Amino acid sequence: MVLTQSIEKVESGLQYLSKSQEPRESRSPNQELLPLTASVNSKNHLEIGGCDVTDLVEQFGSPLYILDEETLRATSRQYREAFKRYYPGETQVLYASKAWSCLAVCAIAADEGLGIDVVSAGEIKTALKAGVNPDKIYFHGNNKSREEIKLAVTSGCTIIADNWWDLENLAELAKLGVSHKAGERIRVMVRFTPGIECHTHDYIKTGQIDSKFGFDPNSLKDVFIYLNKQPSLSCVGLHAHIGSQIFEVKPHHDLADAIVKAFKAAIGQGLKPTEINIGGGLGIRYTESDDPPSIDDWAKTVCDAMVAACNNNEKLPLPKLLCEPGRSLVGSACVTAYTVGAKKVIPGIRTYLSVDGGMSDNPRPITYQSVYRVLAANKMSAELTETVTVAGKHCESGDILIKDAKLPECQSGDILVVTATGAYNYSMASNYNRVPRPAAVLVKDGKVDTIVERETDEDLLRFDRLPERLGTKK
Ligand code: LLP
Repeated sequence: MVLTQSIEKVESGLQYLSKSQEPRESRSPNQELLPLTASVNSKNHLEIGGCDVTDLVEQFGSPLYILDEETLRATSRQYREAFKRYYPGETQVLYASKAWSCLAVCAIAADEGLGIDVVSAGEIKTALKAGVNPDKIYFHGNNKSREEIKLAVTSGCTIIADNWWDLENLAELAKLGVSHKAGERIRVMVRFTPGIECHTHDYIKTGQIDSKFGFDPNSLKDVFIYLNKQPSLSCVGLHAHIGSQIFEVKPHHDLADAIVKAFKAAIGQGLKPTEINIGGGLGIRYTESDDPPSIDDWAKTVCDAMVAACNNNEKLPLPKLLCEPGRSLVGSACVTAYTVGAKKVIPGIRTYLSVDGGMSDNPRPITYQSVYRVLAANKMSAELTETVTVAGKHCESGDILIKDAKLPECQSGDILVVTATGAYNYSMASNYNRVPRPAAVLVKDGKVDTIVERETDEDLLRFDRLPERLGTKK
């Protein structure tokens, strides 16, 4: 059974497959509930990347993150090509690796021509080890340590200065002779809050003035004057990121104007910036009611707005345009498979179906009240006869993955799949209740590779030390 088939029987897990008649490669993955390669095989099992999900669970255990290489590559290509198509100047798409930083994801992004946005020494080292060219690594963060800045500078990354503390640390390091190559100036971009609000969860808004990130726009003039006096720092451009999981295009349209004005002000202070980074933020489809713009639409809006803003500002030559999506690059490319264990029926009230993971592998429902979709991977054509609440295994009443999910009748041993878990799931996973973090596999054309090993109980004990005086008493 293939994806493009018109599906009448919506009362089944098949409803989650794309009903689009478009060929796979022209669909915008962030508008899909499942990875592009999702299909149902003759056993009525869900397949991703040509691999039967139930077989994967048998082989690798659960919970299991299953990442579809084709979707991740298609998304990266769509971003790259759309920016090329709509922007007459130079462009560079960066992958915001906070969404999922691991070697394989960074390596695929880099192989597709993307750069990487990093926010810690750990993310820098991951990107470098994955083979990402440091010319394309941009280092963010509102509280970078001096050691982290030094690592980024000596590796040849660009530093996004978020505040005065960053600028002072950079100036001092430069004074001490820290550089990528002797005599080379440190590449610095300036992040500011453009005062643009968008509709999303409060925790993931960043464009408003009251934000911990970036310079207040009123301080930019002083920042530019300061930078102009630093012979070892080269201000290469400006950056702003307004938030995440955004479905409107207008905030990004408005951002172009605000950022171009700041760019002009930097030039007015004698700087020679050449790059503008408009951040990430495009939303993805977690449920049927989510309707994000396509990657192409988003890119067109951003590029057109940037060209117009430059034209309106005394025909400013087009800067190199960067963006740094995270969620919309990797989010829709991955699903998480769980095995059902306990079932608790409270007559007339609710049925809880408990799975072998939960808030430790997907903290988004408990953190942001995010809503996800679930399907029974081993019963894809069965009718959805039950309304159940899918609960995690943690000692926390709020550890609920999905409330009131429509599923076929399920019992222990059935395999459930939660969709669109590629972004901010593994990267925010924890060991709450001393639960090891799951494995992740990469699937492509029926082949599977482990990209993150499953943690063991021994791993969890690895950092514990028992002072001798507390040692086991016989
Ligand atoms: N650039 C900067 C400077 C950012 O802070 C972020 C996300 C991005 C790019 C990527 O944004 P995206 O394209 O993924 O929307 N943990 C939250 C999301 C936090 C986003 C943090 N910054 C969640 O699970 O919804």
